[in-house]
Amino acid sequence: MEIYILEDYDKMSKKAADVIKEQVIQKPNSILGLATGSTPEGMYKYLVEYYENNELDFKDVTTFNLDEYLGLDDLHEQSYHYFMDKHLLSKINVKKENIHIPDGLGIDIDNTCTKYDKAIESAGGIDLQILGIGLNGHIGFNEPGTFIAETHQVDLTNDTIMANSRFFENQEDVPKMAITMGMKSIMGAKKIILMASGSSKARAIKMSLEGPITPDVPASILQLHQNLIVIIDEEAGALLENK
Ligand code: F6R
Repeated sequence: MEIYILEDYDKMSKKAADVIKEQVIQKPNSILGLATGSTPEGMYKYLVEYYENNELDFKDVTTFNLDEYLGLDDLHEQSYHYFMDKHLLSKINVKKENIHIPDGLGIDIDNTCTKYDKAIESAGGIDLQILGIGLNGHIGFNEPGTFIAETHQVDLTNDTIMANSRFFENQEDVPKMAITMGMKSIMGAKKIILMASGSSKARAIKMSLEGPITPDVPASILQLHQNLIVIIDEEAGALLENK
């Protein structure tokens, strides 16, 4: 595991964007696994900047997002489809047919999940996966409890619903269910970047990287990955012993 503890959110965002830039330059048809949430926003800003400055070309890149809420329309401002479009996908030259985000509106969710895993597999697996981390240690929406291999439907925990209520007008508006990529596709990525910012994430980072590997802390499984790059700010890294 490589750990970078950067001074602040901006430096952390740039470092993560630079790793992606390197990846896409080395392999222009990279398969990128993408995350939503507050954490990667700054990183996406840098990627858009690199694209606009002609430092990066996404025309052969394929993307797979980690997750999506169940029941939110693509145009709903809190849907992850909307988030990705707003922060990255509408601003770069990735091809529409190369963009994959789980469909939270389908009738047959099991089929949606199976098809998502097959699509990742037929693309050859993920080259570089970006991950944020929940306060409870979740990655994607893999909530504490069991490690589930496949893309699946998940009941969000109260912790996650409360944490994500900051994006919605009322807590009751937060969807209670989601679709998330499972541990097989995440751990199958050739390289993983785990990002975290702020003191609220310090405990989750400490437990995930220096605690026991347990489904109670889903991100702890990352300790088993051969090519994990941790990119966090000083506040998120405050409780780590091995820096
Ligand atoms: C989002 C995702 C989640 C978030 C996590 C942290 O696609 O997979 O695991 O990364 O909930 O969210 P933020 O960055 O908003 O603190």
